[in-house]
Amino acid sequence: MTRAMKVHRTGGPDVLSWESIELEKPGPGQIRLKQAAIGLNFIDVYHRTGLYPVPLPFVPGQEGAGTVEAVGNNVKNIKVGDRVAYAGELGAYAETRIIDADRVVALPGSISFEQAAGMMLQGMTARMLLRETYPIQPGDTILVHAAAGGTGLILCQWAAQLGATVIGTVSSIAKAKLARAHGCHHPIIHGEQDFVAEVSRITAGKRLPVVYDSIGRDTFLRSLDCLRYRGMMVSFGQSSGPVEPLAPMQLALRGSLYLTRPLLRHHIEKRHDLVASANDLFDMVGSKRIHIEINQTYALSDAAKAHSALEDRTTTGSTILTV
Ligand SMILES: NC(=O)c1ccc[n+]([C@@H]2O[C@H](COP(=O)([O-])OP(=O)(O)OC[C@H]3O[C@@H](n4cnc5c(N)ncnc54)[C@H](OP(=O)(O)O)[C@@H]3O)[C@@H](O)[C@H]2O)c1
Repeated sequence: MTRAMKVHRTGGPDVLSWESIELEKPGPGQIRLKQAAIGLNFIDVYHRTGLYPVPLPFVPGQEGAGTVEAVGNNVKNIKVGDRVAYAGELGAYAETRIIDADRVVALPGSISFEQAAGMMLQGMTARMLLRETYPIQPGDTILVHAAAGGTGLILCQWAAQLGATVIGTVSSIAKAKLARAHGCHHPIIHGEQDFVAEVSRITAGKRLPVVYDSIGRDTFLRSLDCLRYRGMMVSFGQSSGPVEPLAPMQLALRGSLYLTRPLLRHHIEKRHDLVASANDLFDMVGSKRIHIEINQTYALSDAAKAHSALEDRTTTGSTILTV
């Protein structure tokens, strides 16, 4: 037996139910992982509310880190006692879980379990966005929404390392300070400043080659207005709600724009891509070029409180759940 958070019906944070569940032996190609820390991500909210449907009942959560407790048949290169981490594998909100061995990566000694749980999904997403979706060129000026969030702080730091000038939106002065301390050169505060006008001012009317928009409904159309001709709109999340359908002609009228909606799991589906992505992230964090801000830590059994904080926009940086 192990203890886990389960969702039997979709809804608010109160549908998260702390229960004892049966734990099977790891099957062929699987391992049993005793988790030390689990990452909280906005996708956990989408799953809990039903915005992204998952067959019920389910154990939510996509990311964690811990120690291998048992290995099934045909598992090569991983042994009992190894420290590993993963992202993008549903079922993380559990003290111990079964997971496919080829979806975990070995954790270097320079990375703690807490750091790993606070960065695997958000950090590999940042890498995907900056290196693969729209490869940043030194000298680019870019816009990052939710710049003080978990993904946002990593995105700002990594983009600045690549030589970009980073403009970011946040919802408070405190968040603006935090974003500025993590590579965001021009924080813009929603409600006090209009980000389209600010982008135009900062770029002297030239506008941007790319916008990374994780907010969705509230920002999508105005994000398009920040792009220069043939710019790239990267819509990668919807924390404010789903984006309304858009006629392709709107992309033409606004300057022959490109629009993409990337998902991390399509970029790390192949084992060698997962390992390359994780190793790049470990390198950036291990060498202290990126700092992972774990600004909220909750017990796993208090995951409902963590969800409420994330949805209420009171969190900054990464949030982890400990067991
Ligand atoms: N496509 C992918 O593969 C992928 C992978 C990872 C993450 N994501 C997306 O990236 C986004 C960020 O994820 P995260 O886990 O790092 O969360 P987060 O950025 O730490 O938290 C969300 C932030 O969004 C902002 N926000 C704006 N409007 C909001 C609203 N109506 N409700 C809640 N928040 C709102 C808030 O920042 P302010 O208060 O400063 O505005 C809030 O702190 C999410 O949309 C997520 O789905 C996508």
